[in-house]
Amino acid sequence: MREETKHLLDWYDRHARAMPWRVPPAERVRGVLPDPYGVWLSEVMLQQTTVAAVRAYWLKFTEIWPTVGDLAAAEDADVMAAWAGLGYYARARNLLKCARTVVSDHGGRFPSDRETLLSLPGIGPYTASAVAAIAFDRAETVLDGNVERVMSRLYEIFTPLPAGKVPMMAAAKALTPTERPGDYAQAVMDLGATICTPKSPACGICPWRDPCLARRNGTAAELPRKTPKKAKPQRRGTAYVVRRADGALLVETRPDSGLLGGMLGWPGTDWSDDPTPAPPVEASWRRLEATARHTFTHFHLELDIMVAEVAQGATPDRGSFVPPAQFDAKAMPTVMRKVWALVAASPGHD
Ligand code: ADE
Repeated sequence: MREETKHLLDWYDRHARAMPWRVPPAERVRGVLPDPYGVWLSEVMLQQTTVAAVRAYWLKFTEIWPTVGDLAAAEDADVMAAWAGLGYYARARNLLKCARTVVSDHGGRFPSDRETLLSLPGIGPYTASAVAAIAFDRAETVLDGNVERVMSRLYEIFTPLPAGKVPMMAAAKALTPTERPGDYAQAVMDLGATICTPKSPACGICPWRDPCLARRNGTAAELPRKTPKKAKPQRRGTAYVVRRADGALLVETRPDSGLLGGMLGWPGTDWSDDPTPAPPVEASWRRLEATARHTFTHFHLELDIMVAEVAQGATPDRGSFVPPAQFDAKAMPTVMRKVWALVAASPGHD
């Protein structure tokens, strides 16, 4: 094992963050490994999301669906509702597909090798390596944003991302030990999350302060370099919030493919430069003063909000009415919750 790796593992033995899906290093050295289902679930949730945001979702999922078999047997709509607010909803649809494949093709047990893990729906190179290393102690190397930052600084890799991933992966691989590879993977991610942070890294207390080239040369703040991203375009749209005389609200399940696929939402127009009005029912519409704003991966969105009250017998051409007692905005993705929050806060709403 390289000296740097040993230093990092010593640091991890003292400073590993507690996470509900994690087995602490003192237990792992005694041979205890975490439940692969919990590790896989945490890694899928952690993509593009912080540990702080994931914790409550992970606890909720494992309480409702304690095993991969339970999750595989769940209703799609229940899983999508439980995922609401985490974003990147294709991850939730793939999560279900993966759970069902583990049950149908692998007898309900996660495979332990990276290649077989990679063949599962929604499991890419990062997740396959993370599950193999963390849940099965295989000597696989993980490279997420944290590890990229740490490697770029440790070895002063100035090649901008994404091209820089290649030398950063080579550096991370060379540090991966055959002994305790799962702890190494988690240690280097913890280091990136807590010490080698994007802004003002805590170099003074870093286990790699001596070998780190960026610390020696004062370049940590400018690493990793990134190829500039294209500016996100602005799109517009309208969301329609319809309330029936009995208080029921008109909602619709979005098509499985496409943005927010399979999620519950307000009926609306397309989201584009020039959306076409598309009220779901004939009514006397009132436009709210407020606009909902949300940023997706590839664009900014501004949503106008139209509200209407309709009679008990109204027959909208899409969506279905949900009685007030069953309506739960928390089952909707964030942009749709923002619309509801503005409607609920508007003058005249009870
Ligand atoms: N970020 C994503 N996965 C992680 C893990 N297993 N440990 C620490 N940070 C992480």
